[in-house]
Amino acid sequence: MMIPISLPEPEHVTLRDHAQLTIRPIRPDDAPRLQALHARLTPESIYLRFLDMHPILQADEAQRFASLDYRTRMAFVATEKTVTDEQIIGVARYAVGGPQHLTEAEYAIVIEDRYQGQGLGTLLMERLISYARSNGIEFFTAEVSVENERMTHLLQRLGLPLEKHLDAGVGVWELRIALKAERRSKARRPVKPRKPSLRAKSASAKNLAHPGRVGRSKYN
Ligand SMILES: CC(C)(COP(=O)(O)OP(=O)(O)OC[C@H]1O[C@@H](n2cnc3c(N)ncnc32)[C@H](O)[C@@H]1OP(=O)(O)O)[C@@H](O)C(=O)NCCC(=O)NCCS
Repeated sequence: MMIPISLPEPEHVTLRDHAQLTIRPIRPDDAPRLQALHARLTPESIYLRFLDMHPILQADEAQRFASLDYRTRMAFVATEKTVTDEQIIGVARYAVGGPQHLTEAEYAIVIEDRYQGQGLGTLLMERLISYARSNGIEFFTAEVSVENERMTHLLQRLGLPLEKHLDAGVGVWELRIALKAERRSKARRPVKPRKPSLRAKSASAKNLAHPGRVGRSKYN
C-alpha cells in the first residue's frame, strides 16, 4: 500500500537583494506560469537548462512538467506575487530513471535571469535534495555544460560527494551526486550578481553527437 504523500507547506524566503518569494511544491495549474517563465528566460539560460535551444515550452509539455506524482517526479517552484496572481521565478525538479532505478533521479533547475546569483538556486536545490532524501532517493544525476560555472559552483557549495565524468565531445559534465552523505558545512559569503559567461554554442552539438537524445526535457 502506498504511504500518503505529505507535501511541504509553502515557505516564504528573502533573497540577498531582499526580494520576497514563496517556495512551494508545483501544482498542475502552474503549467501556464511555467510557459510564461520560459518565455522570459534568455536563450543562454534555456540552453544551460535543456542543453538545447528549446525556444518555446509547448502547452502539453508545460502540463507534463506541472502534473507530477510527487514521488518519482517532483518539483519546487519559487513564486513572486503579482497584482492579480503570482509568477514563477525558478523551478527545480527531479525525475527518477524508471522502475528499476527508484533510488536515482535526474535533476534540473532554472532561475529567471534577473534573479540569478541571489541564492535562490541554492535554496531550491536544498529543498529538492531534502525532499528527495525523504523519498528514498540516494543519488542525483545531471548533465551540466562545462561552461556552467554557476551550477558547478552551487554544487560545490552544497558540499555533497560528487562524481563527474567529462563527455568531451559535447562539452558536458555527467554528474552523480550522493545525497545520503552529510553536507560539509561551508561559510557563505555575500556576492554581487554576475552574468553567466556562456558562449552560446550550436544548440544541437549534443544531439548530433547523441542522436537518441532530445535534451533534458525528455527526462524531466
Ligand atoms: C545555475 C542556476 C540554477 C543557479 O541558480 P542561482 O540562483 O543563480 O544560484 P545561487 O545564487 O544560489 O548560487 C550561485 C553560486 O555561483 C556563484 N556564481 C555566480 N555567478 C558565477 C559565475 N559567473 N561563475 C562562477 N560562480 C558564479 C555565486 O557566487 C553563488 O555562490 P555562493 O553561494 O558561494 O555565493 C541559475 O544560474 C540558472 O538558472 N542558470 C541557467 C539554467 C542552468 O544552468 N541550469 C542548471 C543545469 S540543469
